[in-house]
This record gives sequence, C-alpha cells and structure tokens, in this order.
Amino acid sequence: MMASSLLLAGCGGERKDVTSPDGNIQVAVSGTSLSDMSYTVSVGGKELIVPSALGVKTEKPMLGENVKISYSHADEVNEEWTQPWGENKRVVNNYNEMTVSVTDGDENEMAVRFRVFNDGVAFRYEWNLGESADTVVVTDELTQFGLPADGKSWSIAASADTYELPYRIMPIGEVSDANTPFTFRTEAGVYGSVHEAALYDYPEMTLKRNADGVLQAELSPLPNGVKAYVPAQFATPWRTIQIADKATGLINSAMILNLNEPSKIADTSWIKPQKYIGIWWGMHLGTQTWIQGPRHGATTENAIKYIDFAVANNIQGVLFEGWNKGWENWGGSQSFDYLAPYSDFDLERIAKYAKEKGVELWMHNETGGNLPEYEAVLDSALAFYQSLGIHTLKTGYAGGIANGGTHHSQATVRHYQKVVEACAAHEIMLDAHEPIKETGIRRTWPNMMTREGARGMEWNAWSDGNDSEYLCILPFTRLLSGPMDYTPGIFDIDYSRAKADKGRIEWNGPNAHCCIKTTLARQIANWVIIYSPLQMASDMIENYEGHPAFQFFRDFDADCDWSEAVAGEIGEYIAVVRRAGENYFLGAGTNGEKREIEIPLDFLKEGVSYTATVYADDEQSDDPETYKISTLTVTSADKITVRMNANGGQAITFMPAK
Ligand code: NOJ
Ligand code: CA
Repeated sequence: MMASSLLLAGCGGERKDVTSPDGNIQVAVSGTSLSDMSYTVSVGGKELIVPSALGVKTEKPMLGENVKISYSHADEVNEEWTQPWGENKRVVNNYNEMTVSVTDGDENEMAVRFRVFNDGVAFRYEWNLGESADTVVVTDELTQFGLPADGKSWSIAASADTYELPYRIMPIGEVSDANTPFTFRTEAGVYGSVHEAALYDYPEMTLKRNADGVLQAELSPLPNGVKAYVPAQFATPWRTIQIADKATGLINSAMILNLNEPSKIADTSWIKPQKYIGIWWGMHLGTQTWIQGPRHGATTENAIKYIDFAVANNIQGVLFEGWNKGWENWGGSQSFDYLAPYSDFDLERIAKYAKEKGVELWMHNETGGNLPEYEAVLDSALAFYQSLGIHTLKTGYAGGIANGGTHHSQATVRHYQKVVEACAAHEIMLDAHEPIKETGIRRTWPNMMTREGARGMEWNAWSDGNDSEYLCILPFTRLLSGPMDYTPGIFDIDYSRAKADKGRIEWNGPNAHCCIKTTLARQIANWVIIYSPLQMASDMIENYEGHPAFQFFRDFDADCDWSEAVAGEIGEYIAVVRRAGENYFLGAGTNGEKREIEIPLDFLKEGVSYTATVYADDEQSDDPETYKISTLTVTSADKITVRMNANGGQAITFMPAK
C-alpha cells in the first residue's frame, strides 16, 4: 500500500480519480508500477477505504520491463435497460469510469477499470498479453479493502464449500475471514457491502485478514493450490463495494446487475416467473422419503394430487424430489440416474397430465457433488426433459465435490455455468441449490432464475433452525446478491404433530426442534421479502387446504414489475413492497422484538382506491399460528401502521377496489 500523496512520477497533469455522477463517492488511485498500485474510496468527502492495494499475483510476471501507467476517463454512462423479470423490470445504469492502464515495452497491458455509481464502486482487472502468450496462472489476488475497524459487520465465515452458515455480527476489525456479500455500517453511518459481479471462469472471492491486519481478497483454490488458469486476454469478475446512507439503500441498488452484460438469450418468451409447490418438506421432516418405499413422496398418486392443487390455487409449477433412481446412494457413492424414474412415478403420464392441466412440471437433479457423472449425461437429460415439455429444473450439490474439488473453485464455477448454458439451449429455467454465489449473471442468462446459497427453510426441519434475527439479516446480506430459493411459507408452525402422525426417521437428529421460529404471518410476509422469481409455498398441501391465510399465495404474483425496500435496519426489521401489474404486495418482518412501523402508501398509484387485505399477527396471542385477516380501503395519500409480534410479520395485498 502507498499513501495517496505519492502519485505517479512523470505523469503530471493526469486526473487519477473518478467521482460518482452525483459527486458523493470518489475513488483515487496512486502508484508507480503494478506492484505498488493502491486505491482509496471516500464518501461525502470522508475516507471510507484507506489506501488499499490492487493487483493479481501470477506464476510468471504479466508485464516486462519499462512499464508506463496511464489514466483514461470515459464519458458518463446514463442509460435505462429492461429485463424479462426481476425485482424491477426497468433498470437505470449511471456511472463514471476511469481505467488505469499499465503497459510494458512489448505492448502487454494490464488495466484496472473503475466504475463509480451513485450507489457504489466497482473495479476489475483486465489483461491483454498478446495472441501468442501462454495461459495465465493466477496464484493470488492482492486486492485489499481497508475498511474502518470500528464499523459493525454482518457476514458468514469464508468457506470453499458452503454458504449455509450462521451470520456473525462483529466489528469489522475482528473479522478474520468472511464470505461476501460482506455488509457493514461505519461509525459515521455509511452502509456498505463488499461483493463481486459477473463471476465467470474464476474462483469466488472471499475476504481474509492479511498479515498487515487488512481485509484482502482470497480466491478459492483448485485442488493443486493454484487459484485459476485463465486466457492471456481476460477480465476478472468485478470487485464491488455497495454504498448507501440507509440500510434499505443497499437493497434498492441495481449496481451488481448493471455490471453484468445484457442478455445472451434472444427469445425469452419461455422464461416465466412462477409460484410453485412441491413434494419436498415431508422428506425434510422425515415423514416421507426420497427413496422408493412405503413412505415414498414422489408417487404418481401424489403427483396428480399436487397438480390438481396447483390448478385449483393459481399456482403455476410443481416440483417432485425423489422421482429418479439413485437416492439410495445419496451420501455414499453419490450416483444418480437422471433419466430413470422410480417404478411408482410414471413420469410420462404425469408430464402429460401436467400439460393438459396447464401446470409446469419441474425436474429435480440432485448430483450429490458428482460433477463428472452429471456432466456426462447433462445434455441427454435436458433433451429428455425438454421433450416432455419441461421448462424448469432444480439442481442440487449436497455432498463433497468429486475428485477433491470444492464448490467454489474455478473448476466448479465453470461447471455451474455449463449447466446454465446447457439449460438455456434446451429452454429450461434453473434453480440451483448448493450453488455458486449469485453475482448478477441472471441479467446475461435470464434462465438462471434463482438459487439457494444460504440457510434456507430446510434448516428448520433438522437443525436448531433459522430465527427471526437471521431473517432480518438475510435481506441486507445474501439477498443483495440476487434471488434466493429460500422456500418460504410453512403454515404448520409446530410440526411435531405431523411427525407424531407419520413417524420420524433418525436423520432429523437430536437438534430437531419441531417448530418454525416465526409467526405464521411472517411466513406469508417472507413470500414478498425474500425475492425469488420462482417462489415456493413449501409446506405440504394438506396444511394449505382450506386455510384462509393461503389466499395470500393464491393472490400473490411472482412476476413483479417494480420493488422497493421501504423500511429496515440490518438484523432488526425489514419492509418490502412489490408491484405486479396493478396489484401491490407488502411484506414486513421483525426480529425478536415486537414492533410497529409506519409506512406511507405513496407507492400506490395516485387517484386509485385499493382494497388492502392485511394478514397480521394477533397481538392478543402468543401462539405463533394465530393471525388476523382484515380488509380496508386505502389510497396513496394514506399511511398504515404495521404491527408485528416478536418474531412476527405482516403481509398485505393491495388490489384496485372494484
Ligand atoms: C438440499 C436442498 O437445499 C434441498 O432443497 C433438497 O431437498 C435436498 N438437498 C435434496 O436434494
Ligand atoms: Ca441446501
């Protein structure tokens, strides 16, 4: 690192900084060569990131002798683009750009491109080493993030294999390693989050405190310790620092998406956000099984029941896990057959029935981490699903990656991308579990709909579960990266009854606590709060049948046009509004504190009267399953008070009054 006053010798007069369009955020660069280049970030004239190193370490130096550094500034970009689906279908992309380019006498070039938006800073490394140059062997990344030590942070630990970890709340200075999005708030009240955008053909980046006590980028290694093998012309993923003056500002930012390339799928008419149900929760409770046997979930009979329920309840998709042979190997040899249904699951009949009823049948491919086996049949499996009229696939990587790899290395990032592109070729939408983190690639590959990548609902079935504070951290951390298939909406809050009825199997373990740690109203609110263009009602349909509160999901629309986080503090509470067509949906949730928040309805269309149907906690009751449904007529001039019990929430539909 170098002090910012030590600017380049011999390049006098060049501007070495770049400012956001609104002038609030500034990045300044200094250094005399590749090895001592550093950057600072300031917000409102105050330093947020102290001089921090830049650079990539490679096996052989990329540049020769006689390096020259030059700075170039591009014209401000201010454009609007649209996407087939998303929190917001219209997105504004507004930034200033500066490129710092280092060249040698042989015209090899290594550049750092900075983009400064009103809501954050991004930069990436780009190199061009000439046509005949060898593959570049990346051994480390030198990027540092010199954030103030006394700021507060919310993050999960760095791991090469999983994001399904509890959040840690701690001073930035005490974080020894972390995954991204790494969210923080400084003493001065600046909110921020470090992440990455457009992760292709490269390992994921985590943060690690280095010997100098600074958080530094750490790349997930390949089994031989090398970080990445990349071409001689290459651009790394963007390193991103979202910046906002309010916690909700982080959520309302589209910077990560803006750093991705436009869609590569020309015809997106087959890509459809949808609500779905599935044969799923029973397996996690242990009342049903993935393998064929007396409690097998994915039977033809159950499939027909689920399809009928979907038709009757305005639900577009149905997922069946445990439909294919191989589940008896899960956790052992990890070998699945992606083409062979169990004999009690008549796939062709079910596909035909779903088609007749206008329901999307989902496929599920659990790989257990056996990538070679999956890649070998990927194309034929996808072609088979396509021939059955299937447009949606959920994948899973629950298990160690074959051949000593990890989930987050360059090799596995390539695998995940291969599946995205193969699915696109077969007009299949993808929902990946145990995925690589989302970095906005959904803009370029809009069939990459949603993914897991955090502790989802399943953790409530067989561990100590996710509490309401966790649910108030998620929107400001993991969800900043993009949609999550959390699979919300369990109505049978105390599910010990289900277990007592049907018996339980051992794998639920001693920690299973038989209770969802929120109120029922909060489960409804999560359908709005936790954005996913494929949104699941994850309970078993018998728990929804005849349940008055299920009307919310019937009315809900997963294909929203516009969204805004209207209130929230990290780990405390959150309120999000989404519009789909003429209807609006509000979801609010609190942590372990009972809370009231006032929300102006100025997001509603002016001059229109709306019927608001409110799904609220029952203030008179401690029973998390009790709730109240009420209706009122409102306009954009009104304010509402959202009252929530501890661990509670509230959901509201606003529909133009008839
Ligand atoms: C873990 C996934 O997150 C879950 O949704 C799935 O049911 C199991 N793996 C089995 O594939
Ligand atoms: Ca999982």
